[in-house]
Amino acid sequence: MSPLVAPSLLSANFGNLDADIEIINRSQADMLHLDIMDGVFVPNISFGFPVMEAVRKKVTIPLDVHLMIVNPENYIKRFSEAGASFLTLHLEAVNHLHSAVAEIHGLGMKAGVSLNPHTPVWLLEEILPMLDLVLIMTVNPGFGGQAFIQSSYDKIKKLKELIIRTGSSALIEVDGGVDLKNARHLINAGVDILVAGSTVFKSDDPAETIRLLKNPNKPVA
Ligand code: DX5
Ligand code: ZN
Repeated sequence: MSPLVAPSLLSANFGNLDADIEIINRSQADMLHLDIMDGVFVPNISFGFPVMEAVRKKVTIPLDVHLMIVNPENYIKRFSEAGASFLTLHLEAVNHLHSAVAEIHGLGMKAGVSLNPHTPVWLLEEILPMLDLVLIMTVNPGFGGQAFIQSSYDKIKKLKELIIRTGSSALIEVDGGVDLKNARHLINAGVDILVAGSTVFKSDDPAETIRLLKNPNKPVA
């Protein structure tokens, strides 16, 4: 089955975002991944509401918002107003995840939870039936262009088993180091959504790269 592909804006050209958004709008991309970083939860600062709201006016696909911030529950309504369709919080950053997920749903968004590389999937057992998406970080969050962590395949398989066992319909999204070579292994391991930043935006033809990511079962040399 063809995965959903979410290009990550973090690797786009911020000097000419309109051009990259136009490429995305004309491509087979399913949603646009937005990385919100606060310099506290992760050692980097990305962009915030003004950029997100400007992007939202131009992009024609849903916004998949990945919050790498402390106290993300304080900003759920604000991200809803800014146009998020999917809102993903880090398990490591939230004290009251159950109520945060309920609030996301109450505002009409899809709810996701993200796990850092060191966080085991079994911590999601109780919350999984409520989730629309689980985002497995396949690099340490904070920067684009890092190397994929190979042990992530086992983690994805464990998550898939837990999703089935708990009767959850959550989609599995992976983020970090996704490329044209590992995409098909990720799909075979059970991944539904591929996030790709540098692989898409640093390629000569981002739309063609997105098309190739969506057809991962054809081996890439
Ligand atoms: C990293 C971000 C990613 C990043 C991925 O913390 O969450 O979404 O943009 O970039 P690549 O695909 O280049 O690893
Ligand atoms: Zn991300």
